[in-house]
Amino acid sequence: MRVAIVGATGAVGHELLRVLEQSTLNFDELQLYASPRSAGRTLTFAGRELSVQATPEGAIDADVILASAGGSISKALAPAWVEGGAVVIDNSSAFRYDPEVPLVVPEVNGDAALAHRGIIANPNCTTAIAAVAVAPLHRAFGVRRMIVSTYQATSGAGQKGMDELLTQTHRVLHGQKAGAEVFAYPIPFNVIPQIDAFGENGYTREEMKVVWETRKIIGDESLRISCTAVRIPTLRTHAEAITLELERPATPEQARELLRAAAGVEVRDDPASQLYPMPLTATGKYDVEVGRIRSSLVFEGGLDLFVAGDQLLKGAALNAVQIAEYLQQRGALRGRVAG
Ligand code: A2P
Repeated sequence: MRVAIVGATGAVGHELLRVLEQSTLNFDELQLYASPRSAGRTLTFAGRELSVQATPEGAIDADVILASAGGSISKALAPAWVEGGAVVIDNSSAFRYDPEVPLVVPEVNGDAALAHRGIIANPNCTTAIAAVAVAPLHRAFGVRRMIVSTYQATSGAGQKGMDELLTQTHRVLHGQKAGAEVFAYPIPFNVIPQIDAFGENGYTREEMKVVWETRKIIGDESLRISCTAVRIPTLRTHAEAITLELERPATPEQARELLRAAAGVEVRDDPASQLYPMPLTATGKYDVEVGRIRSSLVFEGGLDLFVAGDQLLKGAALNAVQIAEYLQQRGALRGRVAG
């Protein structure tokens, strides 16, 4: 069983290496690919130095390819990877809206992955984090409408996003002009209500990804969703305020109980002791923190909650590896089956 990472030198690639070290995925060989700029660099995996290769134009001799080098690379090369016999778990948005490509959060719709035709899409980070918290509530109480406001870390723009926050903060603290390269405006001491390009309806593409992808993962096209996506000056871990209108009324205690039993969720909800989800505590954690669970003052029987999830883990690398584990545990990967 051979695993390859394409985009191994990036922010998500780095996390893929760390998650694979902890993973139950059974594999014999790990190949690392990035742009030709990184060829010959070495990265550490399980105490060994592995050499990075330039991503070839055609097939890669691997059973599973974890792709995280951006949409254009995936779009151009994934068909050749599939042709070569690999299962591609793609972190980009290139195939997410293709009806033949499953879009998977294993805790929510793992079985959808089994119907793949070579490519499985990993959702947008904001969507994956919300889905882990909202899907159990949807199953129990039927979500009718969902209103989301996000507080998204600079890591959403990759390593260069995090670098920009650090560099600009240093500049501002030293009386220099912050500049703006990765983000439209200086990010330190600011919040920017734009992530990705604006569409004709006034929503950004990031906001529409939450709408389209949540519906596809939860499997309910009638779900009404509205999102405001905002970039904030944190390094990693996205937070989201979520309001839910429900078909059947839920109390906060019922929701807490349900979420305590849900896979991938940590209920962190005790206002009296100032316990709630935050990037500070959710960073590096596999579970998505959920808290501030309270009855909605707007939708009768509805809920308000706040979630924080490590964008590079559940929002990207961890979810991708969990998809591979899910397939292997069900004997749906070539190579050795986990025993
Ligand atoms: P490199 O480090 O060689 O540029 P991030 O999302 O953190 O910006 O990371 C993007 C990842 O995608 C990096 O590993 C980067 O490699 C890789 N990448 C960028 N352009 C290409 C390309 N043309 N072919 C293969 N990998 C690429």
